[in-house]
Amino acid sequence: MITCDVKIARSFISDEDYITAHGKTTLGYKQVADKSGPGSEWLGWRDILADPNDAILEEIDSLAASIRKEADIFIVCGIGGSYLGAKAVIDALSSHFSSNGPEIIYAGHHMGGKYLQELLQYIQAPKADGSQKQVYLNVISKSGSTLETALSFRAIRKLMEEMYSDDASKHIICTTSEEGGILNQLIDAKGYRKFVIPNDIGGRFSVLTPVGLIPIAVAGIDIKALFYGAVAAYNRYEEDNEDIIEYTSLRNALHKAGKTIDVISCFEPELASFGGWIQQLMGESEGKEGKGIFPAVASFSTDLHSLGQFIQQGKRSLMETFLIVENSFSKIEVEELEGDDDKLNYLAGKSFHDINKKARLGTTEAHQDGNVPIINLTIDALNAENLGELIYFYELSTGVFVYSLGVNPFNQPGVEDYKKAMYRLLGKD
Ligand code: PA5
Repeated sequence: MITCDVKIARSFISDEDYITAHGKTTLGYKQVADKSGPGSEWLGWRDILADPNDAILEEIDSLAASIRKEADIFIVCGIGGSYLGAKAVIDALSSHFSSNGPEIIYAGHHMGGKYLQELLQYIQAPKADGSQKQVYLNVISKSGSTLETALSFRAIRKLMEEMYSDDASKHIICTTSEEGGILNQLIDAKGYRKFVIPNDIGGRFSVLTPVGLIPIAVAGIDIKALFYGAVAAYNRYEEDNEDIIEYTSLRNALHKAGKTIDVISCFEPELASFGGWIQQLMGESEGKEGKGIFPAVASFSTDLHSLGQFIQQGKRSLMETFLIVENSFSKIEVEELEGDDDKLNYLAGKSFHDINKKARLGTTEAHQDGNVPIINLTIDALNAENLGELIYFYELSTGVFVYSLGVNPFNQPGVEDYKKAMYRLLGKD
């Protein structure tokens, strides 16, 4: 379960400003709840939690089980909301150094030629015993035409057709809209297996649809626990939304007070990609009409040795959100060393988790002294259920906060500008 502690941030805001912000976010919440705001046709991410479809979870689990038996490599080919949610959950819940299933590789999220070339070489290279690698590919694109994804898909499927001839289509799974788009034409022509992204769910809100759930299940993560964690959060906030209102009110008041950057910080390196998912959710939803708080991601204590100086003493335009995991699975402790030649015996017997916690508390103290408003979001343990809750907490609070700014959270008109210029330079009709 998530606990949201806004005490420190609240001390930066006057009662009057808080009351004004509270009014705006209460209205924002109402726009989400009764689908009365702009972009309300994109609120399907709430409906799937209000009325869970176990059949689709079963179907994905069974597909994932068969891929996990067969595959050496599973490629997730997508960009933005089509891969960040899956990566967030997979990185958070998988081992850093070993895998209990296929190796998960991401593609289609940029146009770096070196990366693609090396990926194609890696796929083709035989295994240690000389046999061919079993590669499965999940291409994910709601529009079915995003250039980064389409280009990588073209190269990878060509190679897979060479490797597996007529069987190639059995190795390719497509996740896209019900109809329309070039990807749907390819699905019809080649007979690829297809999963649907519901029309009323936008990319960055789609992690709990087949978009995120297929890769997450292939990584061996319990998607039912993840999904039902989100359902539990949905039900809880439907009954009592005070945490959401408080959190979004604080962000609204801080936005008004000139805070233009939210540093989303965690002290667990496995949560860095989760920060990346939050960053995209907030960035594409908020940053419009000259408004919004720029979401930055920091992984502490690593980034205390890079961004820490700026956070402590740079321009005071920052707020900070700490993502905290209260209990750790790791029991590793500092051992007593005879002779104490590195002078670390004062920490002997302490767990790394406790030392890390002191680093967080020390950082909180220092940043508060440096006039940074801080919000603490805590989960008791890093598991699928809690991540599901956190996903819904962020989806809901993003919708409410952006409405409180008077902006449509669910479109991304600015993204088209780079595409138009790029396509003109590439000579596309
Ligand atoms: O959140 C969004 O809508 C975007 O980030 C999209 O997910 C991203 O642009 C990829 O689009 P598509 O799935 O159509 O390839």
